[in-house]
Amino acid sequence: MDFSLSEEQMMIRQAARDFAQNELLPGVIERDEAQKFPGEQVKKMGELGFMGMMVDQKYNGSGLDTLSYVIVMEELSKVDASASVIVSVNNSLVCWGLETFGTDEQKEKYLSRLAAGEIIGAFCLSEPEAGSDATSQKTTAKDMGDHYVLNGTKNWITNGNSAEIYLVIAQTHPEKGHKGINALILEKGMEGFEIGPKENKLGIRGSDTHSLIFNDVKVPKANRIGEDGFGFKFAMKTLAGGRIGIAAQALGIAAGAYELALSYSKERKAFGTEIINHQAIAFKLADMHTKIQAARHLVYQAAWDKDSGNNYDLSGAMAKLYAAETAMEVTVEAVQIFGGNGFVKDYHVERLMRDAKITQIYEGTSEIQKIVISRSISKD
Ligand code: CAA
Repeated sequence: MDFSLSEEQMMIRQAARDFAQNELLPGVIERDEAQKFPGEQVKKMGELGFMGMMVDQKYNGSGLDTLSYVIVMEELSKVDASASVIVSVNNSLVCWGLETFGTDEQKEKYLSRLAAGEIIGAFCLSEPEAGSDATSQKTTAKDMGDHYVLNGTKNWITNGNSAEIYLVIAQTHPEKGHKGINALILEKGMEGFEIGPKENKLGIRGSDTHSLIFNDVKVPKANRIGEDGFGFKFAMKTLAGGRIGIAAQALGIAAGAYELALSYSKERKAFGTEIINHQAIAFKLADMHTKIQAARHLVYQAAWDKDSGNNYDLSGAMAKLYAAETAMEVTVEAVQIFGGNGFVKDYHVERLMRDAKITQIYEGTSEIQKIVISRSISKD
């Protein structure tokens, strides 16, 4: 398989790299510390076409392929994983889900503004008692004829307060189990729709994560995505692509930490020489580089599968599993290479280490990826 980048993809990578250095790097430590949402930066990413990368140009998207998207995700994540998760949720979960399964009216009304980055979206599946076990939805969407009445709570929702549009998964026919679940489009400000307090997180502190509370929220039937009962399949299909974006995020976090550690090891001296000349450090860097390259191949393979119309459940899960584990291992090693400096905020690697952890948790924990992988290979 030839994963050499086209001229256009190299230009996109350079644009993302420049944006990350010029617009995300300044203030990234302060935003992390203050848990400040990167609002201005998100607006600029909209102008650059990063918020609807794979969306058709007729809906204000950039009309690019998944490979271009993962390249951008990697570059943004090297510097600011809080910004990149906002990009990932908007692109992979919200825009892709709406474009693939939404009606023409839903696309006209919501997708064009989301893809342009005028507004951002949130994907609302997790609940206090339905995290990994996603079929156990307790939020209900009662069918009232021409509308649904929504009640319940969602947890850990990325873009929880900053979003304007929310794709909410809820149970309509409990007797049908996962076949009774629906996906509904909610707008911020709908009566009875309340945003809970912001979570105080270990990592990706610049992104806003909230619980959402629904008290008799009236949602028109026209806001349902797909047929009655399609909601769980919608969530699974959408998450399968989302995992490729998060795999690229994990790859970027690892690559960002590695690049910092490599250049530090060429400057920092100990025992009379630059520390890269000590095998204890050089071997760490060799392992880090090898794992990152292996993760990049898995991420590109999954993106290529998606672009080629192949099933990408397996390759996406493998990419996410391996890239997330790599992000955690590599960032821990990067902190070790920086020694005492690695433990303080100014050198960025401690933040990357904290940010890496969530990639093993959201859009399916590493254990969930192993379920998806083992089920897939057992069918072979
Ligand atoms: N594509 C299409 N359909 C799929 C599918 C896929 N990738 N995966 C499962 N399904 C279908 C199955 O075929 C099945 O349908 P049928 O009965 O018609 O055959 C149905 O969905 C139920 O599937 P399972 O029996 O496999 O369900 P399960 O209860 O065993 O769970 C699971 C499967 C993979 C563990 C799933 O529950 C899962 O992915 N859990 C993790 C949820 C998750 O990733 N949450 C992340 C929250 S979102 C987030 O983090 C966003 C953010 O803010 C950053």
